[in-house]
Amino acid sequence: HILSLINALADSHSLSLEQYAELIEARAPETAALLAQKAVAARKAIYGNDVYVRGLIEISNICKNDCLYCGIRRSNKNCDRYRLTKEQITDCAAEGYRLGFRTFVLQGGEDPYYTDNVLCDIVSELKSIYPDCAVTLSMGERSRESYELLRRSGADRYLLRHETADKAHYESLHPNDMSFENRMRCLRDLRDLGYQVGCGFMVGSPNQTSNTLAKDLKFIEGFKPDMCGIGPFVPHKDTPFRDHPPGTVELTCYLLSIIRLIHPPVLLPATTALGTIHPEGREMGIKAGANVVMPNLSPVSVRKKYELYDNKICTGEESAQCKDCLSARMESVGYHIVTSRGDVRRQK
Ligand code: 5AD
Ligand code: FES
Repeated sequence: HILSLINALADSHSLSLEQYAELIEARAPETAALLAQKAVAARKAIYGNDVYVRGLIEISNICKNDCLYCGIRRSNKNCDRYRLTKEQITDCAAEGYRLGFRTFVLQGGEDPYYTDNVLCDIVSELKSIYPDCAVTLSMGERSRESYELLRRSGADRYLLRHETADKAHYESLHPNDMSFENRMRCLRDLRDLGYQVGCGFMVGSPNQTSNTLAKDLKFIEGFKPDMCGIGPFVPHKDTPFRDHPPGTVELTCYLLSIIRLIHPPVLLPATTALGTIHPEGREMGIKAGANVVMPNLSPVSVRKKYELYDNKICTGEESAQCKDCLSARMESVGYHIVTSRGDVRRQK
């Protein structure tokens, strides 16, 4: 029966909510291996053995939100706050460009300092120095007008994890000054405005069930995101979820395979969080169907401060060259990193 579900998923890229929940419940080493094999075949047909790199620049850990899971939430008084200047950001990009990166991801908390003027100025500066590069923003919820101005300034892509497609679950992870409806509104606006859009969620977040995960999968099936960020929840010691257990590598990889089969062209990162809960987590993610890695390009001096969860990797002096580290890791499992812009292949 499970085999027929997996075949149906691989052939029609769709299952019912109940079937997704069933497939999640049926996770076992054999089902995982079969899903991974089909996911890798689906990815290979579109992207070969290429793994795309994105240079991640963590521009600010100041945030007006108070998400219960997040280490940079506004209530965390132990967080040492920083914000990069425009010059620091262009310096990171220059170093990245020299190393071959052609996509820069600017990620940060919802820091009110980044008004439309400030952020548009940074984006247009990067696009004028590096017209051959893609600029991806991951700066949280903003107004439609703001997304429109940023798009006009040259931003190509936007990452905004939906976090969970179940409203009650969303509300259990966020205080009530945030809403599920606004999150979804942002994703629709970004899509409308012509961005390549990424959604995503944490695996093993508190109150997550097979049913909420099935809703995430059904949402992804309908939304068909260009990118999808899936990583394990990892507790942070200064948050209300400090004692909650982390998500597992096994379930994360299982979901990566399923998402690859739901939407074969999706750009799917093997995340830093996955590399944090297991020393070979990112390699395992690639072997399950992921095809993107995001080495850290932030100044080493601030990396420790952008701590969304405990024990985040790539924060020490030894991680100055994440690109080389990740290249070696990808080669070790038979893949190789490509440094082109790596736009999503929309045709199937
Ligand atoms: N564990 C794992 N991922 C986290 N994020 C935030 N806090 C944590 C955590 N404790 C993820 C969220 C957010 C992204 C930038 O990082 O999904 O969207
Ligand atoms: Fe950052 Fe390995 S990827 S140190």
